[in-house]
Amino acid sequence: MKGIKNAIAAVKEYLNEDFPFYSDALLSAFVRVNPVFTRPKYADFFWHCGSTIPGWLPNILVESAIAESIGSKTLLTYWKIVKDNEQAENGLLRHARDEAAHAHVFLRLVDLAFPDFVPFEKRHEIDSSLHKIPGNIEKEERRLPEMMLINYLTRINMAELRTLINLHLLAPMFYVLTPDENKEAVSRLLNSLQRDELHHIAYTAELLEIFGRDSGGSLLNVIYKENLYKFELYSTQGLEEAIRAHGGNEFFDLLQVDELCRGGDGNRPPAEQRSSPGSSWSIYWPSIPVDSRPLRPDVSNSPEDQSRVSGSDSITPTHRATPAPL
Ligand SMILES: [Fe+2]
Ligand SMILES: [Fe+2]
Repeated sequence: MKGIKNAIAAVKEYLNEDFPFYSDALLSAFVRVNPVFTRPKYADFFWHCGSTIPGWLPNILVESAIAESIGSKTLLTYWKIVKDNEQAENGLLRHARDEAAHAHVFLRLVDLAFPDFVPFEKRHEIDSSLHKIPGNIEKEERRLPEMMLINYLTRINMAELRTLINLHLLAPMFYVLTPDENKEAVSRLLNSLQRDELHHIAYTAELLEIFGRDSGGSLLNVIYKENLYKFELYSTQGLEEAIRAHGGNEFFDLLQVDELCRGGDGNRPPAEQRSSPGSSWSIYWPSIPVDSRPLRPDVSNSPEDQSRVSGSDSITPTHRATPAPL
């Protein structure tokens, strides 16, 4: 919870205003669910993976580039169907542009922090596949109902909180491993990511605050909690493979979720009902590389390499003591 409280404090400072309805909805949901990404052992697992799995850290950057691109596309789709809500539309459009830019930032980070990890051809292939937002974009005919918009904004908000926490867990590792001559540039890029993620939390918080105020707040509390249950299931599902492969017995308790997250039936939802990469969550647990080989353009079609460059995910994280670069 410390990470979340720090994040809320940072958002309040960023906006220079209070948002009591949003804060109440968020805090009561987080106390109830105790999301995996706020638990100390989650941070330990990041360190465990970063320090023991060869190639895990640079692969996170590569996969983050791809995931951010997918996130940008999803956000642009939302923008296209949100009508008569200028504040939400402006927020979503900027967010879509930010995530498209972040995809390139992550590729730049892998260049600087882990030079030569991604071969030129593979890098070019990834770079040219990233989502580009055209100069001229048009709205779609269909219209997103207000309650669905609130649902999406809630999900984006919690996903961005997790992203900020992940960034704070990973950034020091990236920074420390960066060759000295690139440290300054890496620090700048990581800081710019942090600023943007803070903005993404802030604009969605502002919109949720308005909804909470208008609806009397209790509805926002219900919506935030329901979505956090789903997000918790999604987050632990993303962790499960990594923990089974690399965590040993030590991290299994991270997979324990409240029965309410499972809809009370004690079962995970069927695979087809689970969130998948490219869905609205936008940020995912990085997949674990099968081995430590650098990406090679000539084997890119093998299932192993596919799992390393086409997974879903970015950084996920928590507030710790001030990381070196942030
Ligand atoms: Fe991002
Ligand atoms: Fe973001």
